[in-house]
Amino acid sequence: MSFYIAGTGSALPGKVVSNEDLTAFLDTSDEWIYTRTGIRRRRVLTDETLNGLAVLSAQRALEDAGVQGKDVDLILCATMRGDTVTPSLACAVAEAIGSRAPALDVNAACVGVLYCMEIADSFIAAGKAETVLIVSAEAMSKLLDWTDRSTCVLFGDGSGALVLKKGAGRLAGVLSTDPDTHVIRMPNYEGLNSPYNQSAREPLSMHMDGGEVYKFAVNAMGRNIEEVCRLAGIAPAEVDWYLPHQANIRIIDASLRKFRIRKEKVLTNIAEYGNMSATSVSVLLDEYARRGTFKKGDRLLFVAFGAGLTSGAVLVEWGRG
Ligand code: UT7
Repeated sequence: MSFYIAGTGSALPGKVVSNEDLTAFLDTSDEWIYTRTGIRRRRVLTDETLNGLAVLSAQRALEDAGVQGKDVDLILCATMRGDTVTPSLACAVAEAIGSRAPALDVNAACVGVLYCMEIADSFIAAGKAETVLIVSAEAMSKLLDWTDRSTCVLFGDGSGALVLKKGAGRLAGVLSTDPDTHVIRMPNYEGLNSPYNQSAREPLSMHMDGGEVYKFAVNAMGRNIEEVCRLAGIAPAEVDWYLPHQANIRIIDASLRKFRIRKEKVLTNIAEYGNMSATSVSVLLDEYARRGTFKKGDRLLFVAFGAGLTSGAVLVEWGRG
């Protein structure tokens, strides 16, 4: 026995930044960004905190699932960096929703929510939890070098959440790492003014080799889709809805092309939000779930790749409580 998705929620910063807005301080254009990535605009944190967004999306998911904070058995937060290094973002969520459950952050970059689903699956299968809250929250705008036009135009901030309950909705899952710690990299603040550490410091912002990531992404997405479908004993064409990580519309198109999947089955919101790292798939899920897109028995396939280089796919049947 594993989990089914019992509720979803999301919360986004109020500030909308269009491609055109970026031209005020960057040598770029809406035409370049849109044709290369499919992004039109993104949300950016101003005076909101990431903790605040995470709590809001968690509360919305709990309400959707009809679950109270005190009834959650495990809280997992997918994030690359919360408002504080310690305590974790998950502890901030626990405090706000009145939960005493174990709470921890998971950093698997853009694949974070899929990693959390698989951890939740293990806790539930081991009899250690029946209700798990997964929250993803990313403040990408705080990690970027806003003078690097090849990277900063791609990302946005936001939070999404899912409540998983014990049930038979998860059909299969795969996770993996193709270790490479250079193509996407952001150093930590450790040793900033330690008198014992005089080694040269890397610039404190995210660096990415876009071309290398692109090649990895197309390959990894295809591989994970094939593998998760094989484990579930179905063909990729039998999946009802694809929820791919929203990094670049060209990556999504290129990785799904060989499966000849109808375009309407592939869900996207990248035009509105850009790449929100771990949060991309959870906001995508929440938006389409609230529109009533998914019917009982539909198969949803989540697939993602990210820094590390991590990748994975999880196949879920909608509504198998
Ligand atoms: O969650 C994981 C996150 N990472 C990704 O998903 C990144 C994957 N990679 C990509 O999405 C693409 O590689 C990019 C969108 C980052 C780049 O697209 P590209 O078609 O591979 O462009 P490019 O890097 O080959 O750059 C082409 C040109 C360069 O100019 P020159 O050297 O040809 O004169 C860049 O300097 O475009 C230039 N350029 C820009 N021009 C206008 C790079 N960024 C910009 C920009 N606006 N924002």
